[in-house]
Amino acid sequence: MVKIGLIGCGTVGQGVLRIIEKHRASIEKRVGAPVEIVKICDVKRKVMDQLPAKYKNSFCRDYREVLNDPEIDLVIELVGGTDFAREVVLEAFRQGKHVVTANKALLSQYWDEIFVQARKFGVLIYFEASVGGGIPVIQALNDGLAANKIESILGILNGTTNYILTKMSHEKMPFAKALRLARKLGFAERNPSLDIKGIDSRHKISILASIAFGSWIKPSEIYAEGIQKISLQDILYAEEEFGYAVKLLAIAKDDNGSIEIRVHPTMINKEHLLTSVNNQFNAIYIRGDAAGETMYYGQGAGQMPAASAVVSDVIDLSRNIFNKIAGTIPYVHYDPYKKIKIKNIAEVIVKYYIRFTTVDKPGVLSKISGILGKHHVSIEACLQKGQSGRRRVPIIMITHKAKEKDVMRALQEIDNLAISKSKTVYIRIEE
Ligand code: HSE
Repeated sequence: MVKIGLIGCGTVGQGVLRIIEKHRASIEKRVGAPVEIVKICDVKRKVMDQLPAKYKNSFCRDYREVLNDPEIDLVIELVGGTDFAREVVLEAFRQGKHVVTANKALLSQYWDEIFVQARKFGVLIYFEASVGGGIPVIQALNDGLAANKIESILGILNGTTNYILTKMSHEKMPFAKALRLARKLGFAERNPSLDIKGIDSRHKISILASIAFGSWIKPSEIYAEGIQKISLQDILYAEEEFGYAVKLLAIAKDDNGSIEIRVHPTMINKEHLLTSVNNQFNAIYIRGDAAGETMYYGQGAGQMPAASAVVSDVIDLSRNIFNKIAGTIPYVHYDPYKKIKIKNIAEVIVKYYIRFTTVDKPGVLSKISGILGKHHVSIEACLQKGQSGRRRVPIIMITHKAKEKDVMRALQEIDNLAISKSKTVYIRIEE
């Protein structure tokens, strides 16, 4: 029998118990042995009342009861956060226990320590639920695409922001109302500013890129910008005038050995597959040198999708534990000593959507285009919205590919002119 301890039995933990009970027969067939959750730990006493009758005697409130139980082979860590979770995971390793976690913040911030320690103690840590909820993207990237050199990853990795952007675009819903709905549906983080500011996506792309490029890419090395400043006006102009949809994209690309990695609202052509990923859904578009383009789509959050990923890890690991091969080879193949070069956002070259707000007077356009030209930014399309005679008008431009630092310098100069009536808005475009 494979004996499991569960630490943190909130929404996802309870989903895990439900799946194990519902599919016990097929799970055990896949593992080749009985699988049992023998201890469940949560600090909240009321969790015990919510447990199915058979688990009530397995309940405890001190996680050390799980980690000190010599019979337990595998620990499922679902406490969230980083400090306490790190303590739990590292202590589980010291006790020779394998770990399944959904904790993206923990993994992305302590990647090196976690994998080095796991190796040292001859144990494994699986983390399918940390990115993309129910989408098996970790396995796809780590195993399914193992024959490839990964060229690029484009991900819609956050359900909350995708839901908000979809509601703004499809129903012209204000940002705040869409956020309230996302929280009600249960996919926002406890602190939704992590979703909105792109921090959740940054953790997730850090994990995907670290697997793809074989070296830890720290969240602090990843440029992240959220959707808090996106206006309905820009979403509608982008769609109606230029055929672009706005998505919060996490992007990682291998540019001849230098890694370009960033999270920000991005305009993508409405013909791109990623624009059909709406509401709380996530998708990860990965290009490998042999497989070409691949895409993985599904529910990136929520109780049962996340539990699905956790249980699939439990099955995989339990099979290895039962066959006494778990920990003999590492799960993720990465080199803690390999250093890779991360491209600074200032050096990134993309197309831009730019909206100026200016007075409507002769010479305005030539002033703007002159400054853009001086900074090597070339204009592909230009449009003035609104009726003449108004004191402030939006002028929208799509640029050819330009270097971020050149665009920023040009915008700063333009914003300082008397013709500029409010701060210029820009959104990067992904081709
Ligand atoms: N808060 C996340 C999201 C879910 O909105 O996608 C868990 O990763």
